[in-house]
This record gives sequence, structure tokens and C-alpha cells, in this order.
Amino acid sequence: MAARRWLLLLFVGLAGGGAHGQVDNLGFVSIDCGLPENVVGYVDNDTKLRYVSDMGFIDTGTNHNLSAEYLKPSIGRIWHTVRSFAGGSAGARSCYTVRSLVSGLKYLVRAGFIYGNYDGLNRLPVFDLHIGVNYWQTINVSVAGVMAEIITVVPGDSMHMCLVNTGSGTPFISSLDVRPLENKFYPHADESQGLVLVSRTNFGASDTTFVRYPEDRFDRIWSPWSNSTIWSVISTTEKVQNSATNGNDTFEPPLPVMQTAITPINSSSPIDFTWDAQASTTNNPKPGYVWMLHFAELQPTGVRQFYISLNGKSWLMNGSCTPNNLSTTTLYSTKPVYASNQYNISLDATVNSTLPPIINAAEIYSVIPTTNIATTVQEVSAISAIREKYRVKKNWMGDPCAPKNFVWNGLRCSYAASSPPTVTGLNLSSSGLSGNVSSSLASLRGLQYLDLSHNNLTGSIPESLSQLPSLVFLDFTTNQLSGSIPSALLKRTQDGSLTLKYGNNPNLCGNGNYCQPPKNKSSSKVVVYVLTPIIAVSVIVLLSIMFLCMRRRMQGTTSNHVKSQDEANITPLHSQNNNEHDSLCLDNRRFKYDELVAVTNGFERVIGRGGFGKVYAGFLEDGTQVAVKLRSESSDQGVQEFLAEAQTLAKIHHKNLVSLIGYCKDREYMALVYEYMSEGALHEHLRRRENNARCLTWRQTLRIALQSAQGLEYLHKGCNPPLIHRDVKTSNILLNANLEAKIADFGLLKAFNSNGDTHVSTARVVGTRGYLAPEYLATFQLTNKSDVFSFGVVLLEIITGQPHILNDPEPTSIVQWVRQRLAHGNIETIVDVRMHNDHDVNSVWKATETALKCTAQLPEQRPTMTDVVLQLQECLKLEAARNDVNA
Ligand SMILES: *[C@@H]1O[C@H](CO)[C@@H](O)[C@H](O)[C@H]1NC(C)=O
Ligand SMILES: *[C@@H]1O[C@H](CO)[C@@H](O)[C@H](O)[C@H]1NC(C)=O
Ligand SMILES: *[C@@H]1O[C@H](CO)[C@@H](O)[C@H](O)[C@H]1NC(C)=O
Ligand SMILES: *[C@@H]1O[C@H](CO)[C@@H](O)[C@H](O)[C@H]1NC(C)=O
Ligand SMILES: *[C@@H]1O[C@H](CO)[C@@H](O)[C@H](O)[C@H]1NC(C)=O
Ligand SMILES: *[C@@H]1O[C@H](CO)[C@@H](O)[C@H](O)[C@H]1NC(C)=O
Ligand SMILES: *[C@@H]1O[C@H](CO)[C@@H](O)[C@H](O)[C@H]1NC(C)=O
Ligand SMILES: *[C@@H]1O[C@H](CO)[C@@H](O)[C@H](O)[C@H]1NC(C)=O
Ligand SMILES: *[C@@H]1O[C@H](CO)[C@@H](O)[C@H](O)[C@H]1NC(C)=O
Repeated sequence: MAARRWLLLLFVGLAGGGAHGQVDNLGFVSIDCGLPENVVGYVDNDTKLRYVSDMGFIDTGTNHNLSAEYLKPSIGRIWHTVRSFAGGSAGARSCYTVRSLVSGLKYLVRAGFIYGNYDGLNRLPVFDLHIGVNYWQTINVSVAGVMAEIITVVPGDSMHMCLVNTGSGTPFISSLDVRPLENKFYPHADESQGLVLVSRTNFGASDTTFVRYPEDRFDRIWSPWSNSTIWSVISTTEKVQNSATNGNDTFEPPLPVMQTAITPINSSSPIDFTWDAQASTTNNPKPGYVWMLHFAELQPTGVRQFYISLNGKSWLMNGSCTPNNLSTTTLYSTKPVYASNQYNISLDATVNSTLPPIINAAEIYSVIPTTNIATTVQEVSAISAIREKYRVKKNWMGDPCAPKNFVWNGLRCSYAASSPPTVTGLNLSSSGLSGNVSSSLASLRGLQYLDLSHNNLTGSIPESLSQLPSLVFLDFTTNQLSGSIPSALLKRTQDGSLTLKYGNNPNLCGNGNYCQPPKNKSSSKVVVYVLTPIIAVSVIVLLSIMFLCMRRRMQGTTSNHVKSQDEANITPLHSQNNNEHDSLCLDNRRFKYDELVAVTNGFERVIGRGGFGKVYAGFLEDGTQVAVKLRSESSDQGVQEFLAEAQTLAKIHHKNLVSLIGYCKDREYMALVYEYMSEGALHEHLRRRENNARCLTWRQTLRIALQSAQGLEYLHKGCNPPLIHRDVKTSNILLNANLEAKIADFGLLKAFNSNGDTHVSTARVVGTRGYLAPEYLATFQLTNKSDVFSFGVVLLEIITGQPHILNDPEPTSIVQWVRQRLAHGNIETIVDVRMHNDHDVNSVWKATETALKCTAQLPEQRPTMTDVVLQLQECLKLEAARNDVNA
């Protein structure tokens, strides 16, 4: 019976009384969808309510006029236009967002749909409506049009109303009304269920009388229903009192509605009305119904007493109803009723009644669950701020996470059973973002994965991101970011809890790239990254002056380099003699020379030495033990290499790479301050086996090998562009007090062009003899497989306890030595005897095989460091299994 009523409403126009509504302060939202852009709004002639354009409520869809034959004066202005959402496929969701609502308050939401052949296709669509994150109803648009209405508690201060394309035509909408109720109204509607209107009937009204605002202060629409063949109309002009029915629960049917009623013409006939149960969704095939029957006696001329029955069964516990004179009684079902296919309500006079039954008004609602939980207000406002800032198009409408199958593109959410969904992933890669990095990202407290790569983001990386407790992946690759990477983020990459990618941001300090030289200066084909200035201008000027001085001095001394026996020619990484001012652009602490003197107690204790100079032990003010690598005047390591190492260390952070605490560039003094590795180099431990001193077990050395492999893997896989260490050897693997291994000495580190090149060519071979890959020696062609070769040599040293070059009696490489011995004997002929057979033989075999693969002649036959890591993990498992058995 509902549809026929709406038809009348829509085509007859609204015929409310002539009262003057105070639209401004009612809390009403009245939207005429699809109004032309230049029309802000207008006052509706009938309700005197101000209708506004939907522009501020939605940013998708297109405006259309109904086709000409429907644009008659008889049809209200509100129906003349629609907004339609073409182009979406099934599952596409388009949402209106209504803001400034009262959180937790009950609202009536009403949407109207008149098709009017607006698209010229003459095809009536079917689509779904959602209220917030819950299904509301399916709209099967009829020629006459459809109204949908729901009474619902709005959980937040804004509400989404969404149209969902179900693959049966293009969703559209004509109007949207939102009216606040009072919470004591309609007690059935609460946080977990809503009431979807089936019909709201004003019995006895003339066919054209639709009562709504202002007669109904909540602007409910009461449709007329009378039938002169079976019912006669009773009416009064006297006031009908409203009375609360059950404590505070109340419905307040408006006066004009209560002033008319019907009664059967045949006084012995009942009043009957019927509706069909309709599946709302496949999930909710048999919705429950609730209803309210409003009675008031208007003609007190005798005894009026009647029973009310539902589907033939007494509904009032066999009691009867006698309406009060000129006072409203509302009888309603307190709980949803789930009947069969049809609901029939019948009012029958009792035997003692001298008058037939009467009814003034009735409301029927189906009940829908609203148990889907929306994303929290904080998260919604954060992600909405991000959407506004970057003007994200995608499908970013409605709730970000819910319902599950409508999660915003690029978002990942987690759904716990009883708590609201949380945004855990955000991928805005290649989304054309510009401007700075939104501070709202830090409000997405559950964020684990954030990809902002390949955009045009500028400014610096906000410190606040490091406050995100669950963040494990952060990608800023290929943007225009500048400034330095917050140290708190770097710290997290260091402890291995965060993967941070920030390559190809030319102005970012601590960048995965070295800053690239201006294009007009660089002529070399070799990709050489040069340090460029980022920090404050004054510092740049200062440094550049310093640098020019130093370079001059260096040029004077390079020819006098004494090359160490062990090392091939060393070429500085930054071999180009460019004239730009180079500067350090580090986030780390900068030490003055005098401070270093204090830290090392006057360079008292030497703990190592190398081509660059000596390494001293020291303590910071807070007691942290450090190693200070001071570049000596006669150093083999050039200024550039020294800076390269500082730059590199400042930006790569991994638990298996030695970390830089600070640096010093003070007059002619240059130094790097590292974390202290109390157990020294792996090299020394292996040599120490010779003295049978405290000897590492096979399991310990395996773990050291695995950790070193992980450090190298990070350089090869975790950095952009990939980095090649170029000097992997046992003396560059340092151990801390817990015997955890970290790769050190990055002076020769080289960026490996990632743009599909197969190798980099270097002008000269650098590195350490005996560790160098054959193809690098032969052709100067460098790939990360060169590091793999060197690592293979390290692994063989660990297994055999032999130096990388043996005098056997001629100088022989360990690779040759092992291959020769294995060709003639078994594994025991190569294994370090000082391990006293205390090892799992399979584990040693596997490690040896891996080492031999690493040292294969052809680079393509060698595994990647990732493979090596996997193999070593296997070895460790085998060894651990043996230990467990023994224990
Ligand atoms: C209101 O009524 C006046 C007079 O009938 C008419 O000119 C005007 O267009 C109507 N306005 C709307 C918004 O329907
Ligand atoms: C709808 O009609 C009005 C005039 O009646 C016109 O100004 C407007 O451009 C039309 N809108 C569309 C989308 O065609
Ligand atoms: C929509 O209504 C039409 C006419 O009543 C009916 O034939 C059609 O099956 C309905 N479609 C859906 C999806 O309910
Ligand atoms: C009035 O009631 C009669 C009998 O139930 C029915 O046949 C007729 O269709 C009804 N008329 C209207 C307009 O509802
Ligand atoms: C009516 O509301 C008042 C105030 O909120 C409350 O104290 C009272 O218990 C309510 N009565 C009923 C019957 O719910
Ligand atoms: C009035 O209704 C009763 C019961 O439904 C029926 O028996 C009787 O014939 C009806 N009278 C007329 C005049 O229709
Ligand atoms: C109502 O009356 C019927 C018989 O007239 C009886 O079977 C039933 O138990 C009664 N129900 C109540 C709730 O009193
Ligand atoms: C009808 O009235 C008689 C006498 O007043 C009373 O005994 C009987 O209970 C009444 N029946 C009903 C159904 O109210
Ligand atoms: C980034 O912004 C600059 C300057 O506005 C513009 O020239 C460039 O095309 C943008 N690049 C991308 C990928 O959007």
C-alpha cells in the first residue's frame, strides 16, 4: 500500500498548511540533489523549508534534469533534478556525507528518487542504499518514484548515505532529508537496529493531504488513506491531546492526523489492513516488523470497544481497546514481530460495543540490523584530512574501512570482532600527490604499511611518523622531499623494526641516493653520485671553503700514497673532480676536534688501524662506548672516500651494519664516531683459533656468517639504488659484546645503478686481493655478485680457519685450496681442526656448498645474498638440531 501513497505525494505536490517554518534552527538538512551549480538553494513553497544544492555533500556524480515530459508544474521543484552516478561498475559506492549532526542522536533520514527518464534510456534502475556502514534497503525505482526512509541512531557527528551500484542500472537520487528526532521517540531504533519505513498512514485524510512539517515538527510525512466503499470518515476540528503512552516513550502523531479517522460503513465489519513481508537482503530474508497504531475517540456517542488481532490471533493479550475521547492512545509492538509472508491487522468490535472500531493513524516499519561498526572518528577524520589535502579521487567516500567489501582503494584495514576497524595500510603510490607529507598520517595509529612513493611530495618527512607504534614499512621513493630523515625513524630502521625506503629524493639528506651532480657538470657515463648541499647556506659556504682547501692539500699528497701490501689500487668512490661545493649533510651529531680529544682521552687507546689512520676507543659524556676513526694526514683514504663513508653510514641503517654516531670535520681533522664493537673483527677471532684461545664454536661462527649475510643482503636489496660494499672481508666484519656481527668500512661502497644496467664499470679495481671476483679483476665490471664472491671467501675462511691466501707453498687462494682438497678427499680435510669435530657435518657441507657457489667463476652462477641468507639459516637449523639432540 505504500507505493501508491508515494505516487500521490510525488505527483500531487506537497500540500502542507501555510505555516512559516523557522528552518534555520531546526537542525534539518534538506538537500535537492542535482541542482545546477549556480543555484545555491531555494525555499520550498509548501514546507517553507530551505532546500540546498548537494554540492557540499558529495564530490562525485553528475547533475541531470528530468526529461522534458516530466517537468510539469504539478511536480514539485525538488524532483526536477537528479544526481546520477554513471560509470561505476557493480560494487561501486557513492556517498553523501552529512556533517554537524549530534552524535548518538536519533535521526530520520529520507531519500527520494524520481527517474523521469533523466538519462533518456527509459530504463528504471535497481540499486542499494546504505546508511553509514550498514545496508538500508534496495531501491527498485518505479515510474512513479520511490521514497526511502529510516529512523536510526547516528553514531558520530557525521553520517554517510551511500548508493551502491548492484549491476542493475545507474544509481541516482533526487532528494535527501535528515531530521533530528528525540531519543525517547521510537524506542525500537537504537545503536544496533534501525527502522525502515513501510508506511505511515493518516486514515480519513483526503487523497491530496500529505501532512508533514510544520504540522509534524519532525517532518515525518503522513500519507492519506481512505476508501469510501468500505470506510466512512470521522473528523473533528477540536484539539486532540497527545499523551505519553508508556512512560517516556512517545510518538507524537501530529494534530491534523489525529483529527481524522475511519470506521467501517458496515458496523459489523472489521477494519483490516495487510502488508507483505519483503526480504530486505539475502542476509536478512525475513525482516521483523514493528508498528504503531494511533487512536483517539472523535465521536463519543456510545460504547466503542474492539479487539485487535494479528493474522487472526489476539494481539492485546485478549484485552480490548477503547480510545480516549480527544486524546491519543498509541498501541505498538514492543519487539519486532517475525510472521510468515503476510501481516494482517484486524480491528473487531466486541459484543458489548455499540460503535464500530476506529483508527486514526498507523505506522509500519521493518527492522534492519545496524551492527556493522564504523571506523573510529579519529581515524576517519585523519584519513579524510589526507583525502582533502591531496584531493584523492579513487573511491574515497563513505566509511574508509567498512563494510569490508567497500574499503577504500589503497587502504588496508584490520577488523577485530568487537572493536572498530583500524587502518593498517595506506598505499598512495603514484597517486599524483603534491605538497608536503600530511601530518594527519601520524593520527592513523594502527598504520603498519605506508607507501607514498612516486609522487611529487615536497618538504620534509614529519618526525611524528616515528611515533606510529606499529609501522614496519615506509616508502618515500621518488618524490621531491628535502631536509633530513628524522633520527627517530632511522633509529627504528637500525633496530630492524622498520623498512624505510627513500631513494630518488634528490634533496633529501640521508638519502638512499647520493645527491646527483647538476646535469651540465657531469659528463661521465659512470654513475657517480656526488654530495650536494642541503643544509643551511652558511654552512655550505663554510664547508665549501674548507673543502677547496682540503682538496688542494689532498692533491699534494695523493701521489705519495704508500699502498699497503694487501690492497690493490684504490680509487676513490667520488673520483670526479667536480668543483661544486661538497658538504656533509648528516643527521648525526657533529663533533669538534676538542670534543674528540675528550672522548678518546687524548687518543689514548688504539683499537685498530687501517689505510685511513687509527681507530681509538672512547666514551661519550653519557658513558656510551664508541670507536673513533681518525683520518690521518697520510691516509690512503681520500677525503671523498671518507665523506662517502660518512654519507653512506648516515643513511643506511641495519642491525647488521655498523652504525655511525657522529662525525667530525674540524679544520684539517676528520673523524667518524661509531658504535663500539667490543669483540673486534671476525678476522681476529679466526686467527685466535691458532692459539687455541677462546674459540668460537661452529654454531657461533655460523650465526656470525648469517648476520653478515643479512647486512650485505640489506645493501643489495634494501637500498635504492642497490649498494655494493666492494670490500667484504673478515677484517671488516665486527662483533659486539653479544658476538653479533656487523659489516663495517664503507669507504669503497658504490651505488649500483638500478635502471636495468647489468653492471657498473669502474676505472680501476679496488678492494682486497684474494677477495676480488675474477670478472671484476679482468673486466672492471662490478655487480653485487662481486660482493657475493667476497662473501664466499669469508665463508670458506670461517669453515677452514685458513687465511684467504695460503702459502701452500706458493700463494694460493683459499677458493682454489678448498676445491683442490675436496676433489681428492672428504669434507674433513678442509674443516678447521680446531673445531674438534664439534659440529654437524651436514651443516658444514651445506655451508661449504654455499661458499663454493658464491665463489663460482661466472657471476650468474653465484646465488644472491638472499639465497645465501636462506642457505645459512638452513645450516643453522641443522646445527641447532644436533645441539638439541646432544642436550
Ligand atoms: C512557489 O510558488 C510560486 C507561485 O506559485 C512560483 O512562482 C514559484 O516558482 C514556486 N517556487 C518553487 C520553488 O516551487
Ligand atoms: C537543467 O535545466 C536548467 C534550466 O531549466 C538549465 O539551466 C540546466 O543547465 C539544465 N541542467 C542540465 C544538467 O542539463
Ligand atoms: C523491480 O520491480 C519490478 C516491477 O515491480 C520487478 O519486475 C523486478 O523484478 C524488480 N526487481 C528487483 C531486482 O527487485
Ligand atoms: C476499497 O476497498 C475495496 C474493498 O476492499 C477494494 O476492492 C478497493 O480496491 C478499495 N479501493 C481503494 C481505492 O483502495
Ligand atoms: C522517563 O525519563 C526520566 C528522565 O529521563 C526517567 O527518570 C524515568 O525513569 C523515565 N521513565 C520511564 C518509564 O522510562
Ligand atoms: C456487514 O458485514 C457482515 C459481516 O461481515 C455481513 O454479514 C453483512 O452482510 C454485511 N452487511 C452489508 C449490508 O454489507
Ligand atoms: C486469549 O483467548 C484464547 C481463547 O479465546 C485463549 O486460548 C488464550 O490463551 C488467551 N490468551 C491470553 C494471553 O490470555
Ligand atoms: C460485556 O458486558 C457484560 C455486562 O456488562 C460483561 O459482563 C462482559 O464481561 C462484557 N464483555 C466484554 C467482552 O467486555
Ligand atoms: C611535480 O610538480 C612539478 C611542479 O609543479 C611538475 O612540473 C611535475 O610535472 C610534477 N610531477 C609529477 C610526476 O606530478
